[in-house]
Amino acid sequence: MNPFQYGAPVSPDRFYGRVSAIADVKNRIGAISAQCVNIVGLRRSGKSSFLRYIKERPQVFFQDSQQPLIVSLDLQNSKFHDHYGLMEGLRRGIKAQVGTEPWGRSDNIDPYEVEDALLELKEEGYRLIVILDELESIGYRLDKFQDWGADWRSKASAGWFTLVFASRHPLDQIYRNLGATSPFGNIFSTTVLGALEVEAWEKLLRDGFSSCGTDTLNLVNNLAGRLPFYTQMAAALLWQHGDVEVVKREFLFQVHSHWTGIWHELSDLERQALRVAAGKSGSVVTRETRDLLQRYGLLGTDGELFSNEFAEFVRGQR
Ligand SMILES: Nc1ncnc2c1ncn2[C@@H]1O[C@H](COP(=O)(O)OP(=O)(O)OP(=O)(O)O)[C@@H](O)[C@H]1O
Ligand SMILES: [Mg+2]
Repeated sequence: MNPFQYGAPVSPDRFYGRVSAIADVKNRIGAISAQCVNIVGLRRSGKSSFLRYIKERPQVFFQDSQQPLIVSLDLQNSKFHDHYGLMEGLRRGIKAQVGTEPWGRSDNIDPYEVEDALLELKEEGYRLIVILDELESIGYRLDKFQDWGADWRSKASAGWFTLVFASRHPLDQIYRNLGATSPFGNIFSTTVLGALEVEAWEKLLRDGFSSCGTDTLNLVNNLAGRLPFYTQMAAALLWQHGDVEVVKREFLFQVHSHWTGIWHELSDLERQALRVAAGKSGSVVTRETRDLLQRYGLLGTDGELFSNEFAEFVRGQR
């Protein structure tokens, strides 16, 4: 059986690396007083896998005495596209873990009932963590989400619950791109998911291949760098085909649409910086842009593109 998987979020036992991101998040949601965090990463950087890891491995982030109560909702699901639906998701998530309804279904948008219930949970010693994946989806119903955002910000500031948001771009940038201002102000810290650590990346490959020499490591590195999704894809193809030329051809076929998607979601400045890194002439790149691209894992520490094939792809873009 092919041990490598690319596509759906990975389960915690197949989750590799992310040591510093885990420490960042633990220092926020598991702090004495919990604080909100925005997990940011380009398409397929492992955001949903990371959220799943938080939900299913709470002992990594919390002390038992903190009694974490973690509710995870995916905003891609249209059920959650208004305030009522979100509160219903939260209500059900709490009920599934505590056993009793925190408030009745008809009270979802009754601020008094909801706040009483949240206060009660707090007094019982629970730490409520609300995880929202795919935050970009607020763009579908921005009118509704503005009120919701202000309300949830005030609840988070009051300490009723702590928010963990995952998105492809930082929160303020999402709102700016939508022509709006983030109602969340500065209550979030940002943790970016980029390349895997060298050790974790090697372990992923060595766990999968019974013999994994430098040739294999170099091949995968040239194609995928240390970004987890592309690494898993290159390794899965290598496992299946063996032949280097076939692997390369299939890999390039598979990644093309992903890379095109990433390319179009970057800002002009970011694209410009990648062109320069790929050896094309261009204007001076600001430190902020370079730093963010390094955090995303598109650029390495020396400013080089994460894979030779991606560099080729960038050179081919207009
Ligand atoms: N920590 C990890 N360890 C091993 N593989 C990983 C890890 N994180 C991500 N992957 C790989 O990347 C793929 C995509 O992961 P995931 O769905 O979590 O990304 P995402 O950022 O949520 O993507 P999208 O932007 O499409 O929602 C997984 O199927 C897996 O191959
Ligand atoms: Mg996802």
